[in-house]
Amino acid sequence: MKIILFIVGSLRKESFNRQLAAEAERIIGARAIVSYLDYNEVPFINQDLEQPELEAVARLRQTVAEADGVWIFTPEYNISYPGHLKNLLDWLSRPVVPGDYATPTVINGKKVALAGAGGKMATGKCREKLGELLTFIKADVMTEPQTGVALNAEAWTEGRMILTDDQLASLSRQADAFLDYIQ
Ligand SMILES: Cc1cc2nc3c(=O)[nH]c(=O)nc-3n(C[C@H](O)[C@H](O)[C@H](O)COP(=O)(O)O)c2cc1C
Repeated sequence: MKIILFIVGSLRKESFNRQLAAEAERIIGARAIVSYLDYNEVPFINQDLEQPELEAVARLRQTVAEADGVWIFTPEYNISYPGHLKNLLDWLSRPVVPGDYATPTVINGKKVALAGAGGKMATGKCREKLGELLTFIKADVMTEPQTGVALNAEAWTEGRMILTDDQLASLSRQADAFLDYIQ
């Protein structure tokens, strides 16, 4: 059974992106093992902390290494990705042994899908920039299909995200495509 690691790019308890991830998990069902990355312990990137490898960073690398695919659900912050998501990817981009750029990092070649819920641009700018960053660090990004959710008024006023049939269909298409992508 394939393993898909979900990364939610929001730290908010009631995060819409976490809700979107839960919906994707439901759609995937028994077709893959879904797990969520817990990155609370990962510190801000600091080259002084690179050696010896911190336990939290080793766990992060191990979890990503074990996954057949990574699906990122992220809000858009100021037409880009949140800083804590960039922080994770910065850690993943670094060689484990200092100066060893020959050994591939765990993000190298990793299959990645992108989705996000946000304002009326449906996180389009964030996903575009995230794709660029992931490609730079040699991840294998599934550029299409992606799911972008423009949150409706009810979500903003009541904190409840109810996906439309079209949004659900988009998520479902993306799940099918990603399951194929990681085969
Ligand atoms: C620092 C910051 C910047 C934001 N910038 C954007 C933005 O550029 N585009 C957008 O659609 N929403 C923006 N938002 C609003 C988020 O889309 C909204 O807070 C959303 O609910 C966050 O996702 P979450 O519910 O998963 O935490 C911003 C929010 C914050 C905190």
